[in-house]
Amino acid sequence: QDSWVNSSSGGSPDCCHPDTFWGPTDLSELLKEGTKESHDRAENTQFVKDFLKGRIKKGLFKLATTALYFTYCALEEEMDRNKDNPVFAPLYFPLELHRKEALIKDMKYFYGEDWKEKIQCSDATRQYVDRIHHVGQHEPELLVAHAYTRYMGDLSGGQVLKKVAQRALKLPITEEGIQFYTFENISNAQKFKQLYRARLNALDLDKNCKERIVEEANRAFRFNMEVFDELDKIGRSLVEEAQDGGVPVHDGKGDIRKCPYYADKLGNAAAGCPYHTVVALAKQPIVQLILAACVAVAAGAAAWYVM
Ligand code: HEM
Repeated sequence: QDSWVNSSSGGSPDCCHPDTFWGPTDLSELLKEGTKESHDRAENTQFVKDFLKGRIKKGLFKLATTALYFTYCALEEEMDRNKDNPVFAPLYFPLELHRKEALIKDMKYFYGEDWKEKIQCSDATRQYVDRIHHVGQHEPELLVAHAYTRYMGDLSGGQVLKKVAQRALKLPITEEGIQFYTFENISNAQKFKQLYRARLNALDLDKNCKERIVEEANRAFRFNMEVFDELDKIGRSLVEEAQDGGVPVHDGKGDIRKCPYYADKLGNAAAGCPYHTVVALAKQPIVQLILAACVAVAAGAAAWYVM
């Protein structure tokens, strides 16, 4: 924070006062700046890197979704509890943001109607959930840090993960299994994020409280990374489930963004890298049968011609 003290003598006389700070004072800016390093670290966890490359097994994706289910149950329970508390109320957007119902749909899709009996909260998720409950009940002014870390992320990188998951796991185009990533009541994520930032900035908080919120957001990032590391470990021991035409979305070597079809892939689930499309087609038994028949006919014709 020391680097924010304006020690320069330029500008208007006001900004020369020793107590005057420059740099962001808006909570949205403080959060963005103050969690930049955490964000970089989270993006670079093995689990997230693999996920972005389309290297995610269905079993692991189910577990990741399960972790989200427990996390959002806690988060939304605490947000409901604090919906009239001025330290949180302006950030209460149940219709637009809440994910619990969407996650229940995903749970049903992956585990069936008896999903509740089949899932359990992992150790790392339990730590995260406990902290959310503690904050919601004893330090509600910090709840905004947890909401910011998850929902702003879901509306940003989450939208990339949605496309990757849908494609890599060959999930239906109807978006079953990825309801979590689909914000039905937000038509423009960019605009909504602007509104969210404005609401963050309008909270009536002193400097110390803002600092504590940034600290808590970094803590929230750490909890997420703990969950990712736990998932990564589990992923190593999971046996890949056989999938139709099971070609990976990308071989994972090199930088996926250099694949000329990558942007297309993210933008349009139906379109794809022609190489992978041809390989996928060639792995279909019916296509193999037709190819074999064509080869046999060609060989027969060649033999007839030679004789
Ligand atoms: C899959 C890897 C990720 C990618 C590609 C990604 C990408 C992005 C991008 C492009 C933005 C900027 C959006 C904007 O300014 O409108 C952003 C913002 C954000 N992301 Fe991520 N992200 C990833 C992972 C995460 C994770 C794991 C978290 C936390 C759990 C997270 C939390 C956030 C937050 C809180 C913001 C809002 C920053 C702000 O504007 O204040 N992201 N992300």
